[in-house]
Amino acid sequence: MQEACKLAAGNWKMNGLRADLIEARALARAFPAPDCGVLLCPPATLIASMAEALHGGPIMVGGQDCHAAASGAHTGDISARMLADAGARHVILGHSERRADHGESSETVAAKAQAAHGAGLVAIICVGETEAERDAGQTLEVVMGQLRESLPEGATAANSVIAYEPVWAIGTGRTPTLEQIAEVHDALRAAVPDAAMSLLYGGSVKPGNAAEIFAIANVNGALVGGASLKAEDFGAIIAALEAS
Ligand code: 13P
Repeated sequence: MQEACKLAAGNWKMNGLRADLIEARALARAFPAPDCGVLLCPPATLIASMAEALHGGPIMVGGQDCHAAASGAHTGDISARMLADAGARHVILGHSERRADHGESSETVAAKAQAAHGAGLVAIICVGETEAERDAGQTLEVVMGQLRESLPEGATAANSVIAYEPVWAIGTGRTPTLEQIAEVHDALRAAVPDAAMSLLYGGSVKPGNAAEIFAIANVNGALVGGASLKAEDFGAIIAALEAS
């Protein structure tokens, strides 16, 4: 059976100006040949310049969203092909901030993922429960439902990655227990259509907790927000993943 690839993915969210490309360059210098996949997803305005800055190196660049349509009258939106054209290899889809801020349903996420696959991008599909859902004992039901509805036909380990991000752990400094992460990741592993699909954990991953999270079976990496903005912090997380 093929093993899932390890991936450290940074989600810069709505942070980063051209001056911050210095962090991507520092990361490239620190990891000329990383033992795991390394991905930075800056805001759309920086994708092309970051891809250029990292050109020829192993660190990959991704987008944070794409439209489901290939082109057309969708003011302010970006197509998967445009991301690929700018140098992106991946795109984050269905992040809880987009599900909440933009009312994205799992059905929409599946359509976007299909578009991403069509453009040759790897879709990083996010799932995760709210605190109220966890308190109500609905975590697995919610996460498995999102997975089922957000993964498009034809999803494989080569074109899709799943990120489990409990909504209440994002940007809060709170993380689930290792057992709680393991429970969800075991269920995801059993449910994904391809046994080699990478499963990332996201939500307050920091240099200080990365190693213990990466030691959990069926955790193949992380989707990191705040701690991915500085090369030093993200570098420590990458090093922990390499060592896992
Ligand atoms: P933080 O690492 O800042 O908690 O964000 C996680 C996240 O939402 C990554 O997509």
